[in-house]
Amino acid sequence: MKFFIDTANLDEIREAAAMGVLDGVTTNPSLMAKVGVSNVTEHYRKICEAVDGDVSAEVISTDVDGMIKEGLELIKIHENITVKIPMIKDGVKAIKALASEGIKINCTLIFNPIQALVAAKAGAKYVSPFIGRLDDIGQDGMELIHDIRLIFDNYGMETQILAASVRHNQHLLSCAKAGADVVTMPFNVIESMIKHPLTDSGLAKFLADHKKSMG
Ligand code: G3P
Repeated sequence: MKFFIDTANLDEIREAAAMGVLDGVTTNPSLMAKVGVSNVTEHYRKICEAVDGDVSAEVISTDVDGMIKEGLELIKIHENITVKIPMIKDGVKAIKALASEGIKINCTLIFNPIQALVAAKAGAKYVSPFIGRLDDIGQDGMELIHDIRLIFDNYGMETQILAASVRHNQHLLSCAKAGADVVTMPFNVIESMIKHPLTDSGLAKFLADHKKSMG
């Protein structure tokens, strides 16, 4: 299972990468805007230099020619750039065209299993189901992961399930049980992965006991 970080914040990316268990990065236009990126190309280059793994860079065009043009520009930045394309009709056409040239695609804004199936058939390397946003509207985000896993396994599809819109480490645990290939997490969830109060209190007692026995 791969761990990606879902942010455009370079400090967070570098800190997560320093843990040694980070496999890639996902960004989106909202995350880029949040950190106030002015030079997008340079920012993606810095992200790629910070992490040894796929880095999703999202197109902002909504027509097929625009998406293809942007995708071809984005992949010039670094070999790890993965072009992130939304699940719309022109997006599917752009996925087909770019994937046919061997370009890595992450199809984003997936909210039902059929959308994932279409993206996989078009040749996407990753599909990004947004589990938190489904939970937000009273649906079961995890059911989507289970359904996509079942469908991809039925047909031996190699497209990877990249669980996105992850809000807490219970999402991560459920994704691991459901067989998601990748989970992309905000920095606070990355930090929460290693936390347990009994670990902290247990360590404090070990160190206190050691100090006592040493006099
Ligand atoms: O990067 C896409 C996705 O992870 C967004 O998450 O929290 O905005 O629903 P969120």
